[in-house]
Amino acid sequence: DSLGDELAALRTEMVETDRKQYDSGDVPAEKQPLDARFFWLPEEQLEAYQKDREASELGRIFKVANGLHDSIDAVTVLGIGGSYMGARAMMEACCDPYHNELTRAARGSKPRMYFEGNNVDNDAVDSLLRRLRSGGYGDSVAEKRSALVVISKSGGTMETAAAFRLFLPALESELGEQAKDWLGKLVVPVTGEGGKLFNLAQEIGCEEVFSVPDGVGGRFSVLSPVGLVPAAFLGLDCMKLLEGAVAMNEHFKTADYADNVVLQYVAVNHLLAQHRGKSIRVMSVWTKALESLGLWYDQLLAESNGKDGKGVTPLTTVNTRDLHSRHQQHQQGANDKVFNNVIVQSVRTDALAVGHSERNQDGMNDIAEKTLPEIMSAAIKGTNDALHADGRPTTDIILPKIDTHVLGQLFQMLMIATVIEGRLLGINPYGQPGVEQYKKNMNKNLGRA
Ligand code: PA5
Repeated sequence: DSLGDELAALRTEMVETDRKQYDSGDVPAEKQPLDARFFWLPEEQLEAYQKDREASELGRIFKVANGLHDSIDAVTVLGIGGSYMGARAMMEACCDPYHNELTRAARGSKPRMYFEGNNVDNDAVDSLLRRLRSGGYGDSVAEKRSALVVISKSGGTMETAAAFRLFLPALESELGEQAKDWLGKLVVPVTGEGGKLFNLAQEIGCEEVFSVPDGVGGRFSVLSPVGLVPAAFLGLDCMKLLEGAVAMNEHFKTADYADNVVLQYVAVNHLLAQHRGKSIRVMSVWTKALESLGLWYDQLLAESNGKDGKGVTPLTTVNTRDLHSRHQQHQQGANDKVFNNVIVQSVRTDALAVGHSERNQDGMNDIAEKTLPEIMSAAIKGTNDALHADGRPTTDIILPKIDTHVLGQLFQMLMIATVIEGRLLGINPYGQPGVEQYKKNMNKNLGRA
């Protein structure tokens, strides 16, 4: 009960602070829709925003992405950490699992999407550069051309900057004579104003540069151009994504503690960590489509709240796959975990039945009528029951389906939950001082000051 009171007070404080910032006009007018959306976007603002789409930042995003659809066949997104994981999570959750392998027609002329600049892995970079080289896809000019979305708030991140150094000249040389007309269109930077990447974008002559809102760190930026630009290229419904986040804000602000999914999620997980020694937080996703969403959350939680010797260790498992790898340890190893199941209630395509076979050597005919979703449900219940029998706590986050609206809710729920948890732990969830140390050492090892 006392935690409930503390959480309710924190919620009031957060909502009030956000409302004050919004009302005070601290945020420049042209950026208000995106910035203010983070916590506070009144309905009338959302409506005006929809009406005025062309002029808004989202309108510009749609314009660039839609404008290029017919002229390109692939987009390479360069970025790392918070500047990359949200976009990948959206692609995996919302696109066909084999999107990049589909024909152009089957993709509805939406480009293939690749992610780089999230490592300094020579062979992976080399392979993608070769993959993108002209002739790799088809015969028409559009089928040969690709775009580069380069995302770095600071503009100084080694992995992304090094990749940009390699992918930019490759694109330029592919374009040849066309470079003067096309390079500025095909390179789409998302960055903070005035940084190195911003300056480079000016030098290249990029027609549009999207900004990462001030005060919004990478891992909280998925609903800014950092996530929206790649999502728009994939043809995902960005308005629905934002509306989902707004709906979650509304729920967070108004629902009672007992029914408030954000506060309940924080309360259960925080209490289990503080008082029952559950120092490992497993996000157990029951569909392959949400693996990257789990990895996005791993990064959000780890980088936000893993400070001052505090914070739990996040871990994503994809089931039923990982029941055959990690589960033995989860069931009977150290009892230091809470399992947050993310369960999707529907499938996008027809449910597939196991089917009857004359070759019943596998002994499966007894469940011939059962469908894969039915087997999945049996596995979820079986796993939960087994964990409970061994005193291992679980929670269920139920998603009716996977679409951008649901994803917007989930992103927002987990971002708010992370901030509140940071407050409960008494740490600042923003910033990542611990990450700076490796960067300093790496630069020193490279002979840089
Ligand atoms: O969440 C964060 O803030 C980080 O993971 C950053 O997104 C990551 O370090 C990349 O930074 P930048 O966008 O400045 O290149």
